[in-house]
Amino acid sequence: MAILITGGCGYIGSHTCIEMLKAGYEIVVVDNYYNSKPEALNRIKELSGKEFPFYECDIRDAEGLRRVFRENTIEAVIHFAGLKAVGESVQIPLTYYDNNVSGTVVLCQVMAEMGCKRIIFSSSATVYGSENPSPLNETMPVGAVTNPYGRTKFMIEGILSDLCVSDPDWSVVLLRYFNPIGAHESGHIGEDPNGIPNNLMPYISQVAIGKLKQLSVFGNDYNTHDGTGVRDYIHVVDLAVGHVKAVDYALGHTGVEAINLGTGVGYSVLDLVNAFIAANGVDVPYVIAPRRSGDVDTCYSDPTKAAELLGWKAEKNVEDMCRDTWRWQSQNPKGYNK
Ligand code: NAD
Ligand code: UFG
Repeated sequence: MAILITGGCGYIGSHTCIEMLKAGYEIVVVDNYYNSKPEALNRIKELSGKEFPFYECDIRDAEGLRRVFRENTIEAVIHFAGLKAVGESVQIPLTYYDNNVSGTVVLCQVMAEMGCKRIIFSSSATVYGSENPSPLNETMPVGAVTNPYGRTKFMIEGILSDLCVSDPDWSVVLLRYFNPIGAHESGHIGEDPNGIPNNLMPYISQVAIGKLKQLSVFGNDYNTHDGTGVRDYIHVVDLAVGHVKAVDYALGHTGVEAINLGTGVGYSVLDLVNAFIAANGVDVPYVIAPRRSGDVDTCYSDPTKAAELLGWKAEKNVEDMCRDTWRWQSQNPKGYNK
């Protein structure tokens, strides 16, 4: 019996592979390397000391997926595979709908065909839109999303919920992530973005290492304690452990549950920059720049449901997040390209 991890070579997937193996689960990984490198697999194997089957396969390839299910006994799927760049999704929406939405439909069709009806899905706090006040909880209305990426997450949440209505054997956990940052404490795996990073933490660490000149802080006139945007940053290893707990849960329950994975605490852009400087003794030059369109003042979670349902809560603090990011960045200045 094994757990299939789609997108297992990516940032969150690779950390989840390690935590699943550590918890004693057998895993099978599927990835098409669209946004990841084979080196990530080598590092997962080195760190865990374990072997597992890997298939270079696109989740839209039904026949490829059938082979994975025929050659392994899959109990449940953790589904990370997807495209995730908000700005890019505005430029190429059809690619996002095809990859994320059609890909998930194909995956679920093959799962149903093969009698595997348990799925943990990577959703996002973005489904809460900009109208709900923080702390965001799972009873709040979702769907007022402002870009195609967010819409794929909202649509997939709906598709998976519909499946549970149609067939009571399905077990679906919709994990709504807040802002994952950090890296494995070994410094051997971490986030390896292509090109110039869109997200704050990889940008900070590339400035610190001298790859980028300075950080642009997008707006200092928000309604927050220092005027810069506030987010709920969560260590990627805590997030990965949340997936182990979600699998434990899905194996014993049916129906659909949406669950936030966050810390419940918000930090501003300048809080994070200062924490990074303090934790690592490095310089992070920045300038104040105009607001980035689509950004909200404040976004943080109410993590109560995860504690109650999964027995999970985030353990690591912002200093851990900054220190582990820097260890990964400084040991791997070129990411997985070595
Ligand atoms: P990532 O890009 O590092 O990982 C995704 C992996 O999926 C990559 O290895 C990629 O090659 C693979 N992939 C993409 N399309 C595929 C396809 N059609 N077939 C097979 N493999 C495919 O991203 P991540 O940060 O690890 O995110 C994982 C999931 O979590 C995504 O679904 C993302 O939307 C979601 N999420 C991420 C964040 C974040 O801030 N990182 C926040 C909320 C939700
Ligand atoms: N920011 C800067 N400068 C930068 C990058 C970001 O000031 O160069 C600021 C943003 O304005 C925001 C904060 O840093 O206030 C965090 O921005 P990120 O881009 O790191 O993260 P977001 O909260 O905008 O978005 C993230 C994911 C999305 C997901 C969303 C909600 O990237 O995929 O969280 O879960 F939809």
